[in-house]
Amino acid sequence: MARQFYVTRREVFSAAHRLHSNDYSDAENAEIFGKCNNPNGHGHNYVLEVVVKGEIIKETGYVIDLKILKNIIREHVIKKVDHKHLNHDVDFLHGINPTAENIALGIWEQLVNKIPNGELHSVKLYETENNYVEYKGE
Ligand code: NI
Repeated sequence: MARQFYVTRREVFSAAHRLHSNDYSDAENAEIFGKCNNPNGHGHNYVLEVVVKGEIIKETGYVIDLKILKNIIREHVIKKVDHKHLNHDVDFLHGINPTAENIALGIWEQLVNKIPNGELHSVKLYETENNYVEYKGE
């Protein structure tokens, strides 16, 4: 098998969200999600890392041109989420409790069919410096 490389593009965005599950009462939501259930939401500076796995293309020496990957992420993700309220403004999160897990899954689904060279390997979403979620399509 040809050598496999993992190419990463990092992007940042700022967004508001409110953690709230329709499967629970208001009191239960307050108990489970605490400050994150604040009725009008709260904000994060999210850091997104998108990893593409693949072989080097002989002519370019790239797996994927990072300028192209950057533009794909900005077009299909950042433009839709940056400075938005994730519960209300984002088509691919509509009706979904926007935990980091669910946002990472939504981002994966936005990107998985749009990678021209190599394949989407993982989406890592940092909600804070210390907390992040990684999704690999399994
Ligand atoms: Ni939060």
